Amino acid sequence: MTQAFRLFGDFAHRYDLHTPPDHYRDDHAFVLDEFRAAGARRILDVGCGTGVFVEKALTAGLDAHGIDAAPAMVAQAERRLGPGRAAVQAMEEIGGGPALDGICALSWVINYAANADAAIAILRRMYGAMAPGGRLLLQCAHAPNMQAAVFEDREPGADGTPDDVVFLFQFAPLGPDQVKARYVYAGKSAGELLWEEHALNIANAELLARLAGRVGFSGVRIYGSWRRDPLGGSVSAWVVADRGAAA
Ligand SMILES: C[S@@+](CC[C@H](N)C(=O)[O-])C[C@H]1O[C@@H](n2cnc3c(N)ncnc32)[C@H](O)[C@@H]1O
Repeated sequence: MTQAFRLFGDFAHRYDLHTPPDHYRDDHAFVLDEFRAAGARRILDVGCGTGVFVEKALTAGLDAHGIDAAPAMVAQAERRLGPGRAAVQAMEEIGGGPALDGICALSWVINYAANADAAIAILRRMYGAMAPGGRLLLQCAHAPNMQAAVFEDREPGADGTPDDVVFLFQFAPLGPDQVKARYVYAGKSAGELLWEEHALNIANAELLARLAGRVGFSGVRIYGSWRRDPLGGSVSAWVVADRGAAA
């Protein structure tokens, strides 16, 4: 990670408040379904955050692990998963463990790659870390469909107070594959306020799919959502690919 973000640092313990685990249940079910279809057993969740998907994968019977570049997010994941399932490791450093049957990166983790060259290097490492027949699932921001609208979520606070947590976000496209993400978190009863900009790179599903093909992944496909619909007007796409037997 080139930059240390407060949202994933000193505010990591608030992540599940402004982004409740249940929000992404359909995406999680989709990824589990894809792993099941590929016969995956040992999987890695890259940028695992607070460990929500790893927990679901374990419950589904997979041998799941997660890595994340942010120590505070890994600390949250360990609270959820216990020791030994989540580790501090950047996606730029993937590799070195037993061969994986599946790798996923949910909620735009891949968009923290610094640029296309960095993304290629990461994809190469992912390819090298996988066993033949393994499946890759990357959820990525898609800048060409973004319109800089401002969104607002209101969530209960830690003690259940309704609307205590307010999360504002905006995704401003800067070009065909770059996005400026702006986040505002407010925890009203805790007196907390945070605002932050994140540069999201390789924010184009078609570009990411091409890069995956270039490093050797086969059967590269793009879905507009967990419904497996075409890319269409989606701002958050899935790039799915397989690690074939031949390099
Ligand atoms: C938007 S959060 C998503 C977390 C989780 N995947 C989820 O769906 O809840 C992005 C995560 O990516 C992690 N991240 C950012 N850059 C990374 C990198 N270079 N390597 C590994 N993780 C990274 C952040 O620390 C953060 O936990």
